[in-house]
Amino acid sequence: MIDTPTRRTVLGAGAFAAGSLFGMDRSLAEAPLSLTPACHDGGEITLRQTEGPFFKPSSPERSELIESGMTGQRIELVGLVLSRACKPIAGVLVDFWHADDKGEYDNSGFRLRGHQFTDAEGRYRLHSIVPGAYPGRTRHFHVKVQRRGGSVLTTQLYFPDEPGNRSDGLFRKELLMRTAEKEGLLAARFDFVLG
Ligand SMILES: [Fe+2]
Repeated sequence: MIDTPTRRTVLGAGAFAAGSLFGMDRSLAEAPLSLTPACHDGGEITLRQTEGPFFKPSSPERSELIESGMTGQRIELVGLVLSRACKPIAGVLVDFWHADDKGEYDNSGFRLRGHQFTDAEGRYRLHSIVPGAYPGRTRHFHVKVQRRGGSVLTTQLYFPDEPGNRSDGLFRKELLMRTAEKEGLLAARFDFVLG
């Protein structure tokens, strides 16, 4: 890890001091997910970004990407997939792929790759590790989001307070996750809004 968890912890705690975005449940995905200020009727749809060179189709269906022996800080990313009218959408395909903690992708197998479908309340949940930065790129997740019969939204999600965000030309603040340290786990939240 080359980042500064202490600084992130302080900033994350400050950002969350006034609210309980994740609720108190140990399993964040069990907590009701309130709408975020990012979604308001007629608001902006989630930005598209390049898929980059490391996407592989046919990832396994799973929300748990951590495998035995895997190093790196644990992260639980949860959120909603919403329509532009801020209505949660069930059954949406959410396909994540990302680098390991050393900034390397598995291009021969499916390590740190997995797809899932939003539940009846439009929720998804990813349990994985925080990806490492790699040359030219700040820390990020890749993701494709597709509702049944809809077009594919390909984008990337970013981490707050990353020094690399400033020098990565692809970085967009609109794609920042909200994060907070919680019992050694990095809790993260991002809601997608489909057009
Ligand atoms: Fe990447």
